[in-house]
Amino acid sequence: MINLSSTVAYYLYRNFRTIASLAVVAMLSWIWDFRLGLLLTLGVPLYLLILNLSKSFINKGKAMSEPCEEEVASRMVEFAKCQGALRACHTGSNYEALSSALKKADVVGKKSLAWQSVGMFLGGMAKQMLVTVAILLIVGLAVKRSIDVFPAIACIGMVLSFSKMLEDVSGNVAGTEERRQQMDRIDALMDTGELKEAEYSHEFKDIGSIEIKNVSFSYDKKNRVLNDISFTVNPKEMCALVGPSGSGKTTIEHLIARFYDVDDGSIKVSGADVRDIKIKDLMGQLSMVFQDVYLFNESLLDNIKMGNPNANEEEIKKACDLAGVTEIANRLPDGWNSRVGEGGSSLSGGERQRVSIARALLKKSPIVLLDEATSALDAENEAHIVKSMEELRKNATLIVIAHKLETIQRADKIVVLSKDGRIEQIGKHDELIKKEGAYKKFWDYRVSTSNWQLV
Ligand SMILES: Nc1ncnc2c1ncn2[C@@H]1O[C@H](COP(=O)(O)OP(=O)(O)OP(=O)(O)O)[C@@H](O)[C@H]1O
Ligand SMILES: [Mg+2]
Repeated sequence: MINLSSTVAYYLYRNFRTIASLAVVAMLSWIWDFRLGLLLTLGVPLYLLILNLSKSFINKGKAMSEPCEEEVASRMVEFAKCQGALRACHTGSNYEALSSALKKADVVGKKSLAWQSVGMFLGGMAKQMLVTVAILLIVGLAVKRSIDVFPAIACIGMVLSFSKMLEDVSGNVAGTEERRQQMDRIDALMDTGELKEAEYSHEFKDIGSIEIKNVSFSYDKKNRVLNDISFTVNPKEMCALVGPSGSGKTTIEHLIARFYDVDDGSIKVSGADVRDIKIKDLMGQLSMVFQDVYLFNESLLDNIKMGNPNANEEEIKKACDLAGVTEIANRLPDGWNSRVGEGGSSLSGGERQRVSIARALLKKSPIVLLDEATSALDAENEAHIVKSMEELRKNATLIVIAHKLETIQRADKIVVLSKDGRIEQIGKHDELIKKEGAYKKFWDYRVSTSNWQLV
């Protein structure tokens, strides 16, 4: 950003300097001959007008090709990163989306080139025309003896340096324009509305409680994802969120952590509205164990200590034993000091989630938001996660997006969501299972499919 603005400042300075020189030369030309003075004085605005037209042609060409170039770039990244999924769909080497993006970029690229070429031709031609007319005028004056030969040669030299200055001005204008477009893009990014941070945090009156009241929410301010959701979770209760895919379970957890603001209603964490809590204090109340766990490319130990940098060795050992991270460290070549790769790429999905659980155990926050793995975990991973959840439950409120039948059954409260993001039922397993309703249907279906296996 600093480089960009200093480059713009550099171009502006050069432009002012050159324009001042142009003005001096134009004034001098009046002294040589008023016709030459008139030509250069009127020629410059005309030249700038044509230059402007040429610039708009060039910009039109660029605006055409840029979205296609961006599409090609993102499809290429997708092609490289998602080879596994593409191969599974038999499209590992022939990815239609990339081929059609390349084809479109080729067609649009030719049109864009045509517009840009016309623009460049106009810009170049305007300058040449001005210089040619000026030289012809000087030669004509010399032939008619209105001007002597030597002053005429000097005059042609002046016109040539005048044209060089014009070239500099147009180059600087193009440079400034290019940087301005880059700065506009940065401005647009910076102008994206941020969530308003509370100036001070309201007092936590009921540590560990969660109160969701008449909450409605949409990501795009058009399509409602959550509709009038209300439920409360008392301190140290375990609440299971269940419902079909896309019903808004993850969205509810994200709203509790204030990744977004609700459109209507309110969410209270530990007795205070999340909008009235400073983000740092809100994060102090919450631990999050989501499915897409991101680890930093630091050592295994550093990643765990992020949960609580002040934790002592004994606390770290206890959390890691329980979450099954000690076993991972024993297996890695550099033990606790092994680096986990970008995003945790050198660990499996189950292992990354165990690290995330160890962080949560270490943090000892009053509330834990957990998104249970949808895929079946191996017995070892499963056992560690069950034990850790039991431990977390002793001291924290748990909101679990539950997929395992045991988790749902053990919950103090089950919130059943419908496909359109409304609450269908709330209650305990024993009560809900006796009623004909969404939960019973969901449960019967899950039980009947729980023994299915892919062979
Ligand atoms: N960042 C986002 N931007 C726009 N729409 C989103 C975003 N995240 C989720 N959605 C949409 O919101 C709806 C609810 O998504 P959400 O992830 O909360 O569902 P879910 O119940 O957690 O589903 P699943 O069980 O598949 O994880 C879906 O229709 C989804 O497409
Ligand atoms: Mg989800």
